[in-house]
Amino acid sequence: MSHETESHLLSLSEAIAGLSATTQQLHRLGIEFLPVGDPEAGKVWLHEHTQRPELISPDSRTMASGPRPSSSATGAPPSVESASPNREPSSLGSELLESSNPYPEALPLADRQRRMCRLAAEVAGCTACPGLVQSRTQTVFGEGDLAAKVCFFGEAPGADEDRQGRPFVGRSGELLTRMIQACRLAREEVYILNTVKCRPPHNRNPDRDELGNCRHFFETQLELIHPEYIVCLGAVAAHTLLNSKASVGQLRGRFHVYRNSKVVVTYHPSYLLREPKAKRFAWDDLRMLMADQGVIL
Ligand code: URA
Ligand code: SF4
Repeated sequence: MSHETESHLLSLSEAIAGLSATTQQLHRLGIEFLPVGDPEAGKVWLHEHTQRPELISPDSRTMASGPRPSSSATGAPPSVESASPNREPSSLGSELLESSNPYPEALPLADRQRRMCRLAAEVAGCTACPGLVQSRTQTVFGEGDLAAKVCFFGEAPGADEDRQGRPFVGRSGELLTRMIQACRLAREEVYILNTVKCRPPHNRNPDRDELGNCRHFFETQLELIHPEYIVCLGAVAAHTLLNSKASVGQLRGRFHVYRNSKVVVTYHPSYLLREPKAKRFAWDDLRMLMADQGVIL
């Protein structure tokens, strides 16, 4: 073997050993996958947040009841708050995720698929909310990877979703897809669902009865998926999941807990379309989510 071939083989084996050590280190840190999404895909979204400082108005930082900078922006570690109103905020730790109402043991994927199909059929035939059943075209169950690490939790289907039977397919859906891609995830890798499965007429907020009637459906979906993270999009989603009345501005910027999932609260894409200045706060929230998984955006 020539000296040159020998040294190539040596550097190859060194590279393999290095890669294996890196993989082991990532596993020790709890990182089981590296993002595979197309880094180009979130370009538009990233561009708006990282390349256009003019979007960051000084006013938006000082709004009295408006968004507040996330702890990631201040360099402090994010804290975690439990959905339970009596629970004290505490530092990020796995013990918090063993909340008083943890998910039951995760089911194998085939069982999740079977149960999710049964649940979707139940939803399709549900007539619990007279005010919604009359006007809906069809129910919008939710979609995505049943083994997703991250779930995005929205409010209610709009006109486009009602027509297509899929969540977040209108204008706010396009923005949500870009937000997901900016996290270096593909839309198919996450799971997307709403607090209620039927479109409220004239896009009004779902009322208390409707939210109560539909709650067991999303609770079962989350139980089957066992997500590590749930991103609440907007106040209705956050209030419903966390039993809180605080504003998105007050809830965002730190982790909360729902069963065994860490919960991030951020602005609803339709709000972001109306208030583009708030996009930088949503971007901070997504960065906090990804940094917790060891992905620095
Ligand atoms: N807004 C939502 O909250 N959910 C959807 O599915 C679409 C728009
Ligand atoms: Fe049933 Fe939920 Fe639709 Fe109400 S919103 S009718 S509970 S599926």
